[in-house]
Amino acid sequence: MIEKINAIKETFEKEVSQITDMKILNDIRVEYLGKQGKVTELSKLMKEVPNDKKKEFGILVNEVRMLVTNSLDEKKKELEEKDLNKRLANEKIDITLPATTLSNGAPNILEKTIEDMENLFMSMGYDVIEGPEIEQDLYNFELLNLPKGHPARDSQDTFYLEGDKILLRSHTSPVQARTMLEGKGEKPIRMVCPGKTYRRDDDDATHSHQFMQIEGLLIDEKVTLSDLKGTFDVAAKHLFGEDCVTRFRPSYYPFTEPSVETDISCFSCKGKGCALCKNTGWITISGAGVVNPKVLEMCGYDPKKWHGFAFGFGLERVAMLKYGINDIRTFYQTDLRQNKVFDRKEDN
Ligand code: DAH
Repeated sequence: MIEKINAIKETFEKEVSQITDMKILNDIRVEYLGKQGKVTELSKLMKEVPNDKKKEFGILVNEVRMLVTNSLDEKKKELEEKDLNKRLANEKIDITLPATTLSNGAPNILEKTIEDMENLFMSMGYDVIEGPEIEQDLYNFELLNLPKGHPARDSQDTFYLEGDKILLRSHTSPVQARTMLEGKGEKPIRMVCPGKTYRRDDDDATHSHQFMQIEGLLIDEKVTLSDLKGTFDVAAKHLFGEDCVTRFRPSYYPFTEPSVETDISCFSCKGKGCALCKNTGWITISGAGVVNPKVLEMCGYDPKKWHGFAFGFGLERVAMLKYGINDIRTFYQTDLRQNKVFDRKEDN
């Protein structure tokens, strides 16, 4: 009997030393400790052992059971540790590797120009408002002193939608008329209105059938052309730098009297003359003027009491000049790389 026990111990020890994975370990556990395992079978022999040897036999069988159980537990621990170390080695992170870069978005350059101008005018007390893109002939032309048959209508080759009454606004100036009518001739106005405008233009590098303007209107009791000049000067310096010089040239718009073209000194050649300013040293960036008394009157403001000035910037033109873009189509091609280039230029 004792020999049998020793033989079991011996083979167990040999088998344990050869365990290389959990599967083998579990098989051996069943082989020795399972229902029909070698150690379990040994216990069953107890009944055949003479009474005076039972105690000694019991102790020996127990010793084998302990040996098998402890050795297998130890081996299990060892295997688990080995496994963990292997996993840790495999999952080692090289913290010296360069990080993956997250690609950031960048604002659309036109949107950015609008925001910039809105903020500037808001800082001078202007409201930012919007008007409809589908407009009535009444606001787009009539109330701006452009009655039917007026020759200046031809310069704004307009998209009509229904007969001759509904159209896509050809400029943001109708918002002037709307704001004045809303003010009911009673209160001063300071507003800017950025928005899309439409004309039957062929699309090329400098023209687009859809483009943007930012309109401005100021109405108060004592307003003169020199207030417009001062305001334009502040805006031009804000947009193109402190050394930007401005000038007004006489012009004609039916809704302003007098009317002007507003120029800035060419920031590229500093006035010497170059391709950008067509050798004139000056660049035109908006139309403007003192609000025509006829318009004030039609829109409910008494011209004896109220005066005002108005202006209209071409937004793409401002952005093209500011960011050195030479094709208006750039704004509408949604090429994210372009936005990023301009965004970076801005930061530097
Ligand atoms: N609406 C004009 C255009 O689209 C621009 C303009 C000129 C707007 C003079 C004004 C202004 O408010 O006073 O050509």
